Amino acid sequence: MADLSVELASLALRNPILSASGTFGHGLEMEHFSPPHTMGGLVSKTVTLRPRPGNTAPRIHETEAGFLNSIGLENRGIGAYLRDVLPRVADADTRIFTNIGGEEAGEFAELASMLDERDEVDALEVNLSCPNVGGGRLPFSTDPALAERVMRGVREATDKPVFAKLSPNVTRIGEIARGAEAGGADGVTAVNTLLGMAVDWRHRKPRIASVQAGYSGTGIKPVALRCAWECARAVDVPVIGCGGVGSAEDVLEFVVAGCSAVQVGTAAFSDPALPGTLAEHLDDLLEAEGVASVRELVGSLDREGRAPA
Ligand code: SIN
Repeated sequence: MADLSVELASLALRNPILSASGTFGHGLEMEHFSPPHTMGGLVSKTVTLRPRPGNTAPRIHETEAGFLNSIGLENRGIGAYLRDVLPRVADADTRIFTNIGGEEAGEFAELASMLDERDEVDALEVNLSCPNVGGGRLPFSTDPALAERVMRGVREATDKPVFAKLSPNVTRIGEIARGAEAGGADGVTAVNTLLGMAVDWRHRKPRIASVQAGYSGTGIKPVALRCAWECARAVDVPVIGCGGVGSAEDVLEFVVAGCSAVQVGTAAFSDPALPGTLAEHLDDLLEAEGVASVRELVGSLDREGRAPA
């Protein structure tokens, strides 16, 4: 058996496989497909201060390689999350990450402070990068100073490990990652969805009511991998890879590019049992290569892009 355990800042995970926010409910909904003990952690759907009804339908469209979503952070708000969801995850045999979203820096800090008191929560993922609110302007994940400001507020509000979820919709993601790190992030998640759109030309209509939407799935893997690699070169804190992951081979590509853990998202919609099988497949791959621990591979990509000698 290879050693699959990894560390994300002060947080030890049994393996590097996490669910991606918004694709796996709050986590336990999927326990019959992917039991929590098979995964390193579960990341919740984004929770906001107030309930949000989400965007107008149609808000999902399947493409040739993945799909577009414009959910608009639909959720029942932090009150319902604290009351109804957290007691149910209290005994989950895995790490619990709560993903939080806000319209301004103060809202993120307020959410962090409310969650700081709850032992069920192991870490926070701060959603700086939802493309489906505010007209897709992405203020917190396109400006390093704003990313730093939000993360500083969150850092001051909680002692739990905090991870900043970044957007690929920028020219130099490393600069945003550095801003988040300067604000006190214990790590960054790279990346959220790419801005995209789809058109029904016969009816001259967008396929998604908000026109623009977040594109995820197999098609974005090369972009996500490049973003994760850039972040890993830019910051000293751990990077969590996310984008188009559908196999244990994909997981190891992100690990070699510099990620300490990897999130599985869109692939779980067609196969909700997939996240729960990846650790076993990782073990097989590492054993076949004679690698004793997945940690040996983190960031092992040769800088020039060549295979190490
Ligand atoms: C959404 O709820 O619109 C998606 C969330 C995200 O991409 O951050």
